[in-house]
Amino acid sequence: MNVFGLDVGGSGIKGAPVDVMTGELVEGRVRIETPQPATSEAILRTALDVVSRSGWDGLVGCGFPGVVKGGIIQTAANVDDSNLGFDLQSRLEQELGSTARVINDADAAGLAEVRWGAGREVEGVVLMLTLGTGIGTALFVDGKLVPNTELGHIEIQGKDAESRASDGARKRENLGWKKWSKRLDEYVRTIEDLLWPDLIIVGGGISKKSEKFLPHLTARTKVVPARMQNEAGIAGAALAATLDLSARPPSTVE
Ligand code: BGC
Repeated sequence: MNVFGLDVGGSGIKGAPVDVMTGELVEGRVRIETPQPATSEAILRTALDVVSRSGWDGLVGCGFPGVVKGGIIQTAANVDDSNLGFDLQSRLEQELGSTARVINDADAAGLAEVRWGAGREVEGVVLMLTLGTGIGTALFVDGKLVPNTELGHIEIQGKDAESRASDGARKRENLGWKKWSKRLDEYVRTIEDLLWPDLIIVGGGISKKSEKFLPHLTARTKVVPARMQNEAGIAGAALAATLDLSARPPSTVE
């Protein structure tokens, strides 16, 4: 079965049809620069453009860089504030005339890594970090997602962690690998003292260059690069559209 995966990022909006049995993109992805300011309507229009340029008609899953509950955007750290309270999921459905699911972008990438990548069949507590414009986190307990963790925003040295240790910060401040790795290490060590995960997966575009920073990390937890790299966000968003992530155990269903 193929599902269209969309990944809304701080710099680009990307999408491709995904085989949700294998996690592979079945066609080349379409990428359009994220409009600036990244208002809710501008993001919606661009996302629709990505879908139509791909000639897709059918089920769509979408990752968004903020907390998403019931398809409605709750936070917008790296996009315009007009996204707050925006029902992106319903709007996508209306415009596309088909079912859409919107979830947090890091949760989407984590779902893909846990299903097909570095977190496959790993038991216990797995934390996925996506290092991009911001820092996204996805937390899994025995393969089950705890949605919308926002651990990229813990405070380190009086500052929002992502403003110091994201890839965006590395680029903005023109930091060398060693200097930036030190900040990342500080972040990872703080997180592991709070969560004691069994595995940390580092994703985002920068995971392609993991040999530049992983050797500098002094964390006690095993830290591995994401295997699906930049495609995890698209593949995981497509996968999310096939899962009932809001399902509750039978005892709590009225
Ligand atoms: C947002 C998260 C998002 C992450 C990566 C953070 O600023 O708060 O929701 O997952 O950036 O895009």
